[in-house]
Formats: sequence, C-alpha cells, structure tokens
Amino acid sequence: MPATTLTFSHVSFTYPDGTEALRDVSFSICPGEKVALMGSNGAGKSTLLLHCNGLLLPNKGVVRVGEMEVMKSTLREVRTKVGMLFQNADDQLFMPTVEEDVAFGPRNMQLPEDEVERRVTEALHTVGSEALRNRACHRLSGGQKRMVAIAGVWAMQPEVWVMDEPATGLDAEARECFIQIVASLPTTCLIATHDLSLAHRLCSRIIYLEEGCLQSDCKVVKNQLPG
Ligand SMILES: Nc1ncnc2c1ncn2[C@@H]1O[C@H](COP(=O)(O)OP(=O)(O)OP(=O)(O)O)[C@@H](O)[C@H]1O
Ligand SMILES: [Mg+2]
Repeated sequence: MPATTLTFSHVSFTYPDGTEALRDVSFSICPGEKVALMGSNGAGKSTLLLHCNGLLLPNKGVVRVGEMEVMKSTLREVRTKVGMLFQNADDQLFMPTVEEDVAFGPRNMQLPEDEVERRVTEALHTVGSEALRNRACHRLSGGQKRMVAIAGVWAMQPEVWVMDEPATGLDAEARECFIQIVASLPTTCLIATHDLSLAHRLCSRIIYLEEGCLQSDCKVVKNQLPG
C-alpha cells in the first residue's frame, strides 16, 4: 500500500439548507502521516471527511489527493486512492453477504478474480472476521459490521484511509485489534474521533475543528501520553 499526501486549501462548504459546515479550512497531511481530527459534535468533522473522496465537493477551495484535485472528473480515480470508513457502518455495507461486500471494492477496481479472492481472504483475516465470511451483513452486530467495514477498506488497499469515529461500538479486544491494524498501515490516515487516547496512540498530529473552522494543529508528544 503506497501513501500519498492529502491537502485542503481554503475549503469552504455550505449545505443546501444554508448551514455553513466548513469555513476556509487549510491543512496538509504528508505521505504515511496519521492525523486525528477532533472537535465537538457538529464541528464539521464528518463534512470534512466526505470531501476527501468527493462525496461532497467544496463550494470554495481545493482538495487534493497527491497531485490530483478532487472534482467530478477525477472521482473514479480518487475513490481508488482514498478509502472511507463511514461514521455509521450501516452506510457502508450494502451487499447481501460479508464476502460480497468485502469483494465489492476490488471487483469495482476490475482486479482479476483470483486477486479479489486473495484480498477478501487477507482482509477478513486481518480483522479477525474469517468466521463471518458467509454471513448476511444486515444480521451482524454493530461491532461486527464495523470490523467488516474495515476489511472492505483494507481490501481496496487505498493510499489514504479516512475514518469517521472508527472505534465507536467496538469492545476492548476489537478496539485493540483496530488500533494494531491502523498502527501497522504505512498509508496516510485521517481519523475523526472523540477518543483522545486513541488519537494519542495512533496519531502524530491532532487538528481541531470548531464551528467549521480549523482552530489548532498540534503535534502529539508521545512521552506525555495518557494510557
Ligand atoms: N446533510 C446535511 N444538511 C444540512 N446540514 C448538515 C447536514 N449534515 C450535517 N449538517 C450540519 O453541518 C454541521 C457539521 O456537521 P458534521 O456532521 O460534519 O459534524 P461532526 O463534527 O461530524 O459532528 P459529530 O461529532 O456529531 O459527528 C452541523 O451543524 C450539522 O448540523
Ligand atoms: Mg461526525
């Protein structure tokens, strides 16, 4: 999995009902860097993440993945580079079975079927969910859905991982498994979270949003960490 930069330059976004969700947001994440995105409920974190793979496009400003601007004409390529873990796993899983769901991304990338199979097996193994392979997605528990969603992103081997509250609903063992997986990823990661301990363990930087504005951008000092 190669890594690439993710850059926001003066990005503003207003929802059609007039809610100003992002105001002149600028930051850049280096290849392989892991950054936490924090801020109170409604600060604009999910809105910002949805800009990373073009699910929302800015009203003003530019989002870039590597050299590529995220815009209508680049969406297909952007989505092979940026893997998105949604705040609600139900928004992510839409195929009937776990196997089909994890295979969806690689199939959509038109990879050969033996490579699709290899990635599905490896992804489910990585998240410790091989036993769920033939289960119906809609019958899984919340935490199981979350792990399968992680496997789905893993199978695409994106250059940038964008995660919205990824550890919500995970039990202690699954949370630890998730942290180990993300810690071992060589890719660029942007993780929206309210979990300061998770941010400290995984990230070298924290950026704070408040009412759609980037309020601070600070380095994590590892020897001053809680837990
Ligand atoms: N589809 C939408 N239409 C209109 N306004 C929206 C929409 N989605 C979000 N908003 C508004 O945009 C602002 C930012 O919302 P967002 O979901 O990005 O916040 P968040 O930081 O992810 O919050 P949380 O921590 O609760 O997940 C909020 O004021 C929210 O009410
Ligand atoms: Mg959110």
